[in-house]
Amino acid sequence: MAKGNGLLEGKTGVIFGALNDSSIAWKIAEAVHREGGRFILSNAPVAKRLGGLDELAEKTDAKIVWADATNDDDLASLFNEAKEAYGGVDFIVHSIGMGLNVRKNRPYENLKYEWYHKTLDISAISLHRTVHAAEETGALNDGASIVALSYIGAQRVFSKYSEMGDAKALLESIVRSYGYRLGKRGIRINAVSQSPTKTTAGSGISGFNAMFEFAERLAPLGNADSESCADYTVSLLSDLTRMVTMQTLFHDGGFSNMGISDLLVENLSEVLED
Ligand SMILES: NC(=O)c1ccc[n+]([C@@H]2O[C@H](COP(=O)([O-])OP(=O)(O)OC[C@H]3O[C@@H](n4cnc5c(N)ncnc54)[C@H](O)[C@@H]3O)[C@@H](O)[C@H]2O)c1
Repeated sequence: MAKGNGLLEGKTGVIFGALNDSSIAWKIAEAVHREGGRFILSNAPVAKRLGGLDELAEKTDAKIVWADATNDDDLASLFNEAKEAYGGVDFIVHSIGMGLNVRKNRPYENLKYEWYHKTLDISAISLHRTVHAAEETGALNDGASIVALSYIGAQRVFSKYSEMGDAKALLESIVRSYGYRLGKRGIRINAVSQSPTKTTAGSGISGFNAMFEFAERLAPLGNADSESCADYTVSLLSDLTRMVTMQTLFHDGGFSNMGISDLLVENLSEVLED
C-alpha cells in the first residue's frame, strides 16, 4: 500500500458498507487508515455471516458496530458509541446500496412496490437517516465531511440499472437538501459518482459486464477502480476540499462528458460491417 500523507490525522468517523475486499468501502477504509483517520466500521447485521469485516477491522485498528441503515434505533446506538469512543465524528462514508427488483430481475415496468420501497430506503433514505442520527445524538462535529457513493444512472438511463437510477437520483437530491441545512455548521456533504466497479453490488446487476466494458471503452482514462475512488474520497474527507459541498462529483475517468469514442466506433463498425 502507498505511504500516507497524514491528510486525515486527528480525524474520526464512521464508514458504512465494507462487505468484502472488493467493496468500495473496504478500499476507502484502507486509504483512510493510511492517511491517519480513525473510524468505526458498520454494516447490516445480516452481513456478519457474509463478509470478512473482522480482518479489515484488525488491519485498520477499527471497531465494528453492526447497524441496519434503515433502522433508526440501530443508527442512534451506533452514533452514541462513536461519540463515546471519539467525542464526535469528523467524517461519514455512506457506501450502501441494494436494488431488490434488480437483483430478482423484475423489470422496471413491473416493479414489486414493496421491494421498490425497500430499495429506496436502503440505497437513498438511509443517507438521510444516517445524517439525522449523527446530528440527533450530538455525534456530528462542526466542519465534518460526509461522502455518499452514487452512479450516473441518477441522471441518465442505463436500462439495466432500472429502479437503482431512481434510488441514486433521490440520494443525490438528499445530498443537496441536507447540504444546505448542514452548511450552517460548516458541515459538507457530497456524492461521488463512481465508474462501474466489480463488487458484490455491481455484479448483482444483470448486464453489468456490458456496462463495465462500454464505460471502459468510452472513458478517456478508462474506468476508475475502487482504489482510486478511495483516494478521491480521502481528498473529500480532508480539509483540502473544505469549500466543496452539495455536489455530485464524477469519478469516472471522463465518461460523463463523452458521447462516443473512436474505439466504440471501430467496435460497432466491425459488427455492422461498414
Ligand atoms: N459497483 C459499482 O459498479 C458501483 C458504481 C457506482 C456506485 N456504486 C455504489 O457504491 C456503493 C458501495 O457498493 P459496492 O459496489 O462497494 O458493493 P458492496 O456490495 O460491496 O457494498 C454494498 C454494501 O451495502 C451494504 N448494505 C446493504 N443493505 C444494508 C443495510 N440495510 N444497512 C447497512 N448496510 C447495508 C451491504 O452489506 C454492502 O456492504 C453503493 O452505494 C453502490 O451503489 C457502485
